Amino acid sequence: MDFNLYCPSCGKRYKPVLNLWKCICDSPLNVEKKLERGGELKGWGIWRYKLFIPLLADDVVTLGEGGTPIVSRKIEGVEVLLKLEYMNPTGSFKDRGASVMISNLKALNAENVVIDSSGNAGVAVAAYCAAAGISCRVYVPFNAPSAKKRQILLHGAELVEIPGPRGSISKKAIEEVSRGAVYASHMWNPFFIEGLKTIAYECCEQTGAPDAVILPVGSGGLLLGVYWGFREAKEIGLIEDVPRLIAVQSVGFTPLYDAIYGPYGVEPPTEPFADGIAIPNPPRLRQLVEVIRESKGDVVVVDDRETFDALLRLAKTGFLVEPTSATALAAFQKAKEKGLLETGERTLLPLTGTGLKALEKIVRIRGVD
Ligand SMILES: Cc1ncc(COP(=O)(O)O)c(C=O)c1O
Ligand SMILES: [Zn+2]
Repeated sequence: MDFNLYCPSCGKRYKPVLNLWKCICDSPLNVEKKLERGGELKGWGIWRYKLFIPLLADDVVTLGEGGTPIVSRKIEGVEVLLKLEYMNPTGSFKDRGASVMISNLKALNAENVVIDSSGNAGVAVAAYCAAAGISCRVYVPFNAPSAKKRQILLHGAELVEIPGPRGSISKKAIEEVSRGAVYASHMWNPFFIEGLKTIAYECCEQTGAPDAVILPVGSGGLLLGVYWGFREAKEIGLIEDVPRLIAVQSVGFTPLYDAIYGPYGVEPPTEPFADGIAIPNPPRLRQLVEVIRESKGDVVVVDDRETFDALLRLAKTGFLVEPTSATALAAFQKAKEKGLLETGERTLLPLTGTGLKALEKIVRIRGVD
């Protein structure tokens, strides 16, 4: 596949090279490519869609990611398609992105990568670096769930815990880049997002396009990837309409809501319950606003109490997810009340991360035993 990296802000194009992680105008880059049509889909998991994934070498770094089941449940008259993303190798959807990003970084002969993450992306990048034989350093917030920190260490990565705001963690990781490390960022690296498109491709094949999708939004890679995936599926004639995308943010971390509706106006909590979406300044905010508008979607804000209730509701029906993932069900209920979802419609609700990594945190913060 022939492709470039492209800056949607200033229009500059680049060939991918190791130390390129943003445009000279400071904006994040996207992949620009021609869609392959008429090719055969082969195999299982994300690499079934190899035709649509921009790759720098044929050899890929895989741990068996993707191919997650969809389980259908009727909730308040709406068919909800629960896509079990927590069944990915490291327990979250981030494995799809990490597999594609690390495959390309390996093709570019990366030896030493650095990432900043609230946890799940760091775990996924640590695991795929381990599989690729690349050394990895992960910067995480001091209060990241301990299971995620342990998992990063078990995969052989170096863990650096940083106190203070999320922005200072990114800054620390980027300082490493000036000392020669490769920035393998799930927020900035467009190949990571290209990998997330496979959630949409799989859904098209498993159940057909839903009417709406509800997605927790932190850095917004998930929202962009899922949208791009459905948009491409429409371009190649696999589906007729792209679903409405409903973003979920958590009280205290509402940059997307604020950009569309004005300030929500609540200060961030010191220990966010939905830690995966505690991102105050996502670098791709402009693109996220465009996706919400283009898909005729919306943004819903949920609080910790609603998230906790949704988590318990899921757990009591057999689905054990982490708080960030449970925000989607909390938002489903709010979206229904606000008339954003109608009876008879089908909603895709990816369950993005396993609760097994968050058990201690759930018990400590919410006192369940
Ligand atoms: C479990 C889970 N769900 C959703 C998200 C949101 O993904 P994104 O940062 O791509 O918006 C994250 C991010 O870390 C996460 O860990
Ligand atoms: Zn630019």
